Amino acid sequence: MELFKRATSVAEAIKLGEGRVTLRGWVYRKRALREKVFILLRDSTGVIQLVLPRDKFRVAGDLNIESSIVVTGVLVRDSRAPGSVELHVESVDWACAGEPYPINEDAVKADSEYLLDMRHLWVRGRKMQAILKVRHTVFGAVHEYFRSRGFYEVQAPMFVTAAVEGGATLFRVDYFGRHVYLTQSSQFYLEALIYSLERVYTMAPSFRAEPSRTRRHLTEFWHAEAEMAWAGVEDAVRVSEELVGHVIERVLGERQDELKMLGRAMESLERARPPFYRISYDEAVEILQRRGLAIKWGDDLGADEERALTLEFDRPVVLYGFPERVKAFYHRNDPRRPEATLSFDVLMPEGYGEVVGGGERIYDARELVEKIVRFGMNPEDYQWYIDLRRYGSVPHAGFGLGVDRLVMWIVGADHIRDVVPFPRDVRRVRP
Ligand code: 4AD
Ligand code: MG
Repeated sequence: MELFKRATSVAEAIKLGEGRVTLRGWVYRKRALREKVFILLRDSTGVIQLVLPRDKFRVAGDLNIESSIVVTGVLVRDSRAPGSVELHVESVDWACAGEPYPINEDAVKADSEYLLDMRHLWVRGRKMQAILKVRHTVFGAVHEYFRSRGFYEVQAPMFVTAAVEGGATLFRVDYFGRHVYLTQSSQFYLEALIYSLERVYTMAPSFRAEPSRTRRHLTEFWHAEAEMAWAGVEDAVRVSEELVGHVIERVLGERQDELKMLGRAMESLERARPPFYRISYDEAVEILQRRGLAIKWGDDLGADEERALTLEFDRPVVLYGFPERVKAFYHRNDPRRPEATLSFDVLMPEGYGEVVGGGERIYDARELVEKIVRFGMNPEDYQWYIDLRRYGSVPHAGFGLGVDRLVMWIVGADHIRDVVPFPRDVRRVRP
């Protein structure tokens, strides 16, 4: 299409600052004076002010917010305009007037769920646009990190037959008359694949039937998982903190404008360089008890505990050595201290909490079967997973990073829903 070929992006136009250009985009704001109409035009790169003489462009008066237009004109520097450049329009080459835009202050005020119902339109907003760009950089940086460190990317199935992270949050799906589940984690498949490729990763959705609506739980989230042969818990800690550090560094490099627009304190991100703080589960319990929280050794850390703990730190924290009973069955118990596991979480500071969970896996078949039984589960359900220990087993370790949670921390969002274009939670699967 001709219109498609010769247009300049808004960001380019602002950089040029002069000359004749054609711009394409959507009406972001509009102000009509007696003689002129001022339109803020938005595209994927920015906003610029258009000035249209009213007598010449009667159409301008009819354009609602979000109408799409293509205009040609002359760029003029003007310090009063956003970006200090505006376009004096000579021709409107194309216009598709939108109906009155349904997202407005009154509608939003009247219904707290309104913006979620209108998500298919809300994704156009400037804030969501900035967050989507940060997400883009984050996803790219995850791939970049693993690929540059000798990890092979692999893909695991989404339909599975057994729980990885406990039966309580499994989604059951009808599969030609029998029941299967949506995957909670690709970990077991990655464990199978290390025997072929040694170091593997995947980034894919994981599903959890999380019954409560919290600030940091979705029913469908993006999960970056890695698994390494010939590795222990310390290796998994190192790789995960390097990964998180790399992603943050990339965002700092590529997304300054977006972070500024979102009001994110850059110093918090700059401090998040590895090595992160390391504290043991035992120390965490002591800190929390001193803070007056009712926690004792053996309890899991919930959102409140993680919040209290991470408010104490200005950098991410590696929390290691969780008790056996709060971590899934596959975690290897610490040979020096069998009541604890060789496991860890990475927690983000400022109250955010867990973004990574991982550790060393049980590599001995008998030990694994015993623990499955001790956890009240049926070894038959894990037959192929146990099999992996029968044919040349090796010590191995890995972790999973909640990508949406990391984005949430990076942009400083209050709620995980705010950083996902089409979030799914216990009440919402539409749009
Ligand atoms: O701690 P989790 O449950 O660990 C696992 O699934 C391991 N099998 C991963 C592995 O070792 N390969 O989940 C890992 C991370 C959490 O730290 C959290 O960041 C994220 O996944 N996560 C969620 N994110 C959003 N919504 C949810 N409901 C999440 N559940 C876990
Ligand atoms: Mg966890």
